Amino acid sequence: MQREHHSSCKSKVSRLAMPFFGIVLLLAMAYPATSCNEQEKSSLLQFLAGLSYEDGIAMSWQDGTDCCKWEGITCNETGTVIEVSLASRSLEGSISPSLSELTGLLRLNLSYNSLSGSLPSGLLSSGNITVLDVSFNRLSGNLQEPLLSITEHPLQALNISSNMFTGEFPSTIWGKTRNLIAINASNNSFQGCIPSSFCISSSSFSVLDLSFNQFSGSIPAGLGKCSELRIVKAGHNCLSGSLPDELFNATSLQYLSFPDNSLHGLLDGAHIMKLRNLANLDLGGNMLNGKIPESIGQLKRLLELHLNNNNMSGALPSALSNCTNIIMIDLKSNNFSGELQIINFFNLPNLQALDLLYNNFTGTIPESIYSCSNLIALRLSSNNLHGQLSPRISNLKSLVFLSLGANNFTNITNTLRILKYCRNLTTLLIGTSFKGEAMPQDEIIDGFQNLRVLSITDCSLSGNIPLWLSKLKNLEMLFLNRNQLSGSIPAWIKNLNSLFHLDLSRNNLTGELPTALTEMPMLRTETTKAHMDSSAFKFELPLYLAHSFQYRIASTFKKTLDLGCNNLTGVIPQEIQLKSLQKLNFSFNGLSGEIPQQLSKLTNLQVLDLSSNHLTGAIPSALSNLHFLSEFNVSHNDLEGPIPSGGQLSTFPSSSFDGNPKLCGIIVAKFCGSVEAPTVSVPSTEKMNKRIAFVIAFGPFFGVGVLYDQIVLSRYFG
Ligand SMILES: *[C@@H]1O[C@H](CO)[C@@H](O)[C@H](O)[C@H]1NC(C)=O
Ligand SMILES: *[C@@H]1O[C@H](CO)[C@@H](O)[C@H](O)[C@H]1NC(C)=O
Ligand SMILES: *[C@@H]1O[C@H](CO)[C@@H](O)[C@H](O)[C@H]1NC(C)=O
Ligand SMILES: *[C@@H]1O[C@H](CO)[C@@H](O)[C@H](O)[C@H]1NC(C)=O
Ligand SMILES: *[C@@H]1O[C@H](CO)[C@@H](O)[C@H](O)[C@H]1NC(C)=O
Ligand SMILES: *[C@@H]1O[C@H](CO)[C@@H](O)[C@H](O)[C@H]1NC(C)=O
Ligand SMILES: *[C@@H]1O[C@H](CO)[C@@H](O)[C@H](O)[C@H]1NC(C)=O
Ligand SMILES: *[C@@H]1O[C@H](CO)[C@@H](O)[C@H](O)[C@H]1NC(C)=O
Ligand SMILES: *[C@@H]1O[C@H](CO)[C@@H](O)[C@H](O)[C@H]1NC(C)=O
Ligand SMILES: *[C@@H]1O[C@H](CO)[C@@H](O)[C@H](O)[C@H]1NC(C)=O
Ligand SMILES: *[C@@H]1O[C@H](CO)[C@@H](O)[C@H](O)[C@H]1NC(C)=O
Ligand SMILES: *[C@@H]1O[C@H](CO)[C@@H](O)[C@H](O)[C@H]1NC(C)=O
Repeated sequence: MQREHHSSCKSKVSRLAMPFFGIVLLLAMAYPATSCNEQEKSSLLQFLAGLSYEDGIAMSWQDGTDCCKWEGITCNETGTVIEVSLASRSLEGSISPSLSELTGLLRLNLSYNSLSGSLPSGLLSSGNITVLDVSFNRLSGNLQEPLLSITEHPLQALNISSNMFTGEFPSTIWGKTRNLIAINASNNSFQGCIPSSFCISSSSFSVLDLSFNQFSGSIPAGLGKCSELRIVKAGHNCLSGSLPDELFNATSLQYLSFPDNSLHGLLDGAHIMKLRNLANLDLGGNMLNGKIPESIGQLKRLLELHLNNNNMSGALPSALSNCTNIIMIDLKSNNFSGELQIINFFNLPNLQALDLLYNNFTGTIPESIYSCSNLIALRLSSNNLHGQLSPRISNLKSLVFLSLGANNFTNITNTLRILKYCRNLTTLLIGTSFKGEAMPQDEIIDGFQNLRVLSITDCSLSGNIPLWLSKLKNLEMLFLNRNQLSGSIPAWIKNLNSLFHLDLSRNNLTGELPTALTEMPMLRTETTKAHMDSSAFKFELPLYLAHSFQYRIASTFKKTLDLGCNNLTGVIPQEIQLKSLQKLNFSFNGLSGEIPQQLSKLTNLQVLDLSSNHLTGAIPSALSNLHFLSEFNVSHNDLEGPIPSGGQLSTFPSSSFDGNPKLCGIIVAKFCGSVEAPTVSVPSTEKMNKRIAFVIAFGPFFGVGVLYDQIVLSRYFG
C-alpha cells in the first residue's frame, strides 16, 4: 500500500515539478535517486505528531511527498535523512523517540524551541548521530545512562544547555566516545559529581561547559588528560576542593573558568605557568588564599584575570606587568596589600578595566596607570590609598567609570578640577575620602558634561551645595549625603532634567523645602528614562557589588528624594505631585504643619518616612491609596486622631506611629473613644480582594527591592 503511494508520489514529482522549477531540476540532477524511504518518513511523521505546536512545518511535511524535500530535512545522495534542522521554530510538545530510528541521521538541531518532556535515550546512545543540539528548550528529567551496545560512539558535539535537566550527568558513555569534541550542559539542574571519565579514549575533546548547575564534589583530575581541551567552564556550581594538579597538564587550555564555587587552596605558580595558552582565567567567588604567583607573568596570552571575591592576600606580583595583552583585571574583595607601584602599567596598554575594590592596597596611585589610555573602568575604592590625583589622569580619555571612594585621598578641589578633563566619564564615585575638606564652590569646575552618577558622600565636606552642580545636565543620581553641607536646597535643582535619585541626607541643610523640589521633571513624569545604557561598554563595572548581588545597572535604583537628617523647616509643600517618586524621606528635620492630602497622589511610593519632625493634624485617610507602600514611618511627630484603617496603612507595625501621643487606633493599642472615626473610604470587598492579591503577589518583590537597596547603599556608599 505504502510502497505504491510512494512510487506514485515520486513519479508525480518527476513529471510535474521538474520541468517547472529550476531549483528542483538542479537538485534532481545532482541527486537523481533522491527520495527518502517509508520507514524514515514514518519516523519523521511520528515526530511531527508529537508536537503540539508545529509552526507550519506540517504544510511541507505531507505524507504523499518525498521527505528529503521537507522543510528542515537534508538527505544524502542515496536519499537517507542525515540532518534534521528545526532550530528557532517555536516548536512545542515532546521529542518523539522515533527520531532515533533514523539510522542515517548525523545531525539533529532542535535548539531555541519550547520542547518539553525528556530527551529520548536513543538519541544519546545513537550509533550514528554526531551533532545533537537541543539547547534552549524546556526539556527535563534525568538523562538515561545510554545503552552501550556500540563499541565506538560517533557523538562529537552535544549541546543540551539551557534546559531543565536534573539528576546526575551520565558518565559511562564518555569512556566510549572517541570522537567527542564539545559538551555544553550549562544552565540546567544537574547534580552530583562531574564525571571523571572524560578523555579516556577521546583525544579530541576540547570544550566542556557545565556552568550554572548544581554539580558538587571536586574538579576531576582526569580533565588533565585532555590534551586538546581549550575551554572548560563550570562556574556557578557547588564544586569544592582545590584545583587538581593534573588539570594543569591540559596545556591547550585557553579558557579556565570556575567562578562562584567553593574551591580553596592556592594558585600554584609552578602549575599555572604551564597553561601558556590561557586567555581567560576566572576563579572569582571561591575561597582561594595565598598570593598571585610571579609565574603569572609567563601567561603572555592572558586577556582576562578574575580572582575577585576570594581570600587572597599579599602584594601583587610585579611580573603581572609582563601580561602585556591583558584587558581586564578583577581582584576585588580580597585582602591584597602593598603598593600598586609594583605593577608597571606602562606595559599594559590594552587594559580596559581594573577593579581593586575592597582590598588593602597602600601608597599612592602609580603614575604609570595614566598611560593606560584604553582604560574604561577604574575602581580603586575601599583601600588605603592616599595622595592627590595627578593631572595626567586626563590622559585617560576613554574613562567612563571611576570609583576612588573609601580611601584617604586629599584635595577634592584639585581632584575635580583635574577630572573634568576626562570628558567621557559617566560615573564618578569619590566619597569617603577628602575628610573634613570644603566642598569646592569654584566656577572653574565645569566639564563633566556626560556625568550621570556622582557620589561625594561621607566626606564631612563643609560649604553649600555648589552652583557648578547645576551645569551637570545629564546627572541622574546625586549622592551628597553624610557631609556637613549647610545653606538651603537651591532652586536650580529642578533644572537637572534627568535627575531621579537625590540623596542630601545627613547634612546641615536649613531653610524651607523649595517648591523647585516639587517640579523635578524626572520625579513628575511616569516615563522612566533608559538610564545607564548598558551597551556603553563591555566591561562596565557593577556600581556596587555585594557577594551575591551583581546588578550591573543603576536603573534598579529607586526614584528617590532623601532629605533625612537635616535642619529643614517649614511645611511640606501642598504641590508635591511627584507622581513617579518611589522613595520619600524627610525624617529627622524640623518640618511642621500637616501631612498634605496630596501625598496620596504619589501612587508609586514604596517608602515614605516623615518621622521625627513636628508634623501636626491627622494622618490623611487618603494615604491608604498608596498600594505599593512597603515602608511607612510617621513616628515622633505630633499627629493626632485615629490611624486610618484602609489599605496598606493597617499593615505597618506600631513603631511606624510611635511617639505621637494623640494618635489612636488598634495599631497603637489605644481606643479612639467616642469620637467618630473620620469617614475612611472603605474600599469595596471586591476591590479589597484584588488589592490583597496584588500585595501577596508583589509584596515579596518590593520587600526584596528595599532590602537590597539598603544593603547596596550601606555597603557601597555607606
Ligand atoms: C543549531 O541552530 C542554531 C540556530 O540556527 C545555531 O545557532 C547552532 O549553531 C546550531 N547548532 C549546531 C550544533 O550547529
Ligand atoms: C551548541 O553547542 C555546539 C558545540 O559547542 C555549538 O556548535 C552550537 O552552536 C551550540 N548551539 C547553540 C544554539 O548555541
Ligand atoms: C553553552 O551554552 C550557553 C547557552 O546555553 C552559552 O551561553 C555558552 O556560551 C555555551 N558555552 C560554550 C563554551 O560555548
Ligand atoms: C538559561 O536558560 C534560560 C531558559 O532557557 C534562558 O532564558 C537563559 O538565558 C539561560 N541563561 C544563560 C546564562 O544562558
Ligand atoms: C600530569 O600531572 C601530574 C601532576 O602534576 C604529573 O605527575 C604527571 O606526570 C602529569 N602527566 C603528564 C602526562 O604530563
Ligand atoms: C583567609 O586567609 C587568612 C590568611 O591570609 C587566613 O588566616 C584565614 O583563615 C582565611 N579565611 C578563610 C575563610 O579561609
Ligand atoms: C589581611 O592580611 C593581613 C596581612 O597582610 C592580615 O594581618 C589580616 O588579618 C588579613 N585580613 C583578613 C580579613 O584575612
Ligand atoms: C590591612 O593590612 C594591615 C597591615 O598590612 C593589617 O593590619 C590590616 O588588618 C589589614 N586590613 C584588613 C581589612 O585586612
Ligand atoms: C567618548 O565617548 C564617545 C561617545 O560615547 C565615543 O564616541 C568616543 O569614542 C569616546 N572617546 C574615547 C576616547 O573613548
Ligand atoms: C589620611 O591622611 C591624613 C593626611 O595625609 C593623615 O593624617 C591620616 O592619618 C590618614 N588617615 C588614614 C586612616 O590613613
Ligand atoms: C590642592 O590643589 C590645588 C591645585 O589644584 C593647589 O593649588 C593646592 O595647593 C592644593 N591644596 C593642598 C592642600 O595641597
Ligand atoms: C530615612 O532617613 C533617615 C536618616 O538618614 C534614616 O535613618 C532612615 O532609615 C531613613 N528611612 C528609611 C525608611 O529608609
